Amino acid sequence: MQPVLKISNLTKEYQLDGTAFRALNEIKLTIPAGSFTTVVGKSGSGKTTLLRIIAGLEKATTGEINYLSGSSVQRPAFVFQEARLLPWLTVEQNIAFPLQGKLEQVELSQRVKRQLQLLGLTEFAAAYPAQISGGMAQRAALGRALIYETDLILMDEPLGALDAFNRRKLQEELQTIFAANQKTVIFVTHDVEEAIFLGEKVIVLDEGQILAEFKVPITAENSQLFTLKENIITSINS
Ligand SMILES: Nc1ncnc2c1ncn2[C@@H]1O[C@H](COP(=O)(O)OP(=O)(O)O)[C@@H](O)[C@H]1O
Ligand SMILES: [Mg+2]
Repeated sequence: MQPVLKISNLTKEYQLDGTAFRALNEIKLTIPAGSFTTVVGKSGSGKTTLLRIIAGLEKATTGEINYLSGSSVQRPAFVFQEARLLPWLTVEQNIAFPLQGKLEQVELSQRVKRQLQLLGLTEFAAAYPAQISGGMAQRAALGRALIYETDLILMDEPLGALDAFNRRKLQEELQTIFAANQKTVIFVTHDVEEAIFLGEKVIVLDEGQILAEFKVPITAENSQLFTLKENIITSINS
């Protein structure tokens, strides 16, 4: 597969009390087009910083990110840990927001309708963020990213706020959605099982460095997946 994103020697330093703290240290990473990459690691390992730099929300101290020229990944969609919906807009209007005025109204409402259906939000289309649960709000935030015309979607623990049942349901939906439409996804989670379930490749980040990369077999026995999970956890704790 063609790489859409090539990261070389990416380092991010923050100044803390006059001393430099390395949140990311010489990250090298190639993301193939249409791939689903998950990033796991302890809290503070640099996962959010890495995504924010890829998204262009933050600047690297040194290093480079090269995007495949001509692709739309230069404007990735970002799904945050918190839903960040606009409180004065309804669920439907929040999902439509990124494309409002950029798409014909008919096409836009069709897309919104599809997202509402896909994410089980049809009944809540006219509700305001204050009137829905945290899980519903996160679904709306997913819809707002999925409707966006971009090949690259960056997700920062987007299912963390959901209860176990809704979380599994959305994991399955995400798998179906991304298998169908060829988007490139980088998905951060601290849940190793989620990382294996969704990812084709799992990257382990620790203290700002890539400790290991694991390929997830497309068809795997449960015992194989169990071993993979153990290996990832061992790597995180090493
Ligand atoms: N704006 C900032 N200023 C200073 N330090 C920061 C800033 N953002 C993150 N850090 C530090 O960088 C490290 C990585 O943070 P983060 O990327 O949020 O980790 P993760 O998402 O894996 O929990 C942490 O030690 C964090 O305290
Ligand atoms: Mg984080």
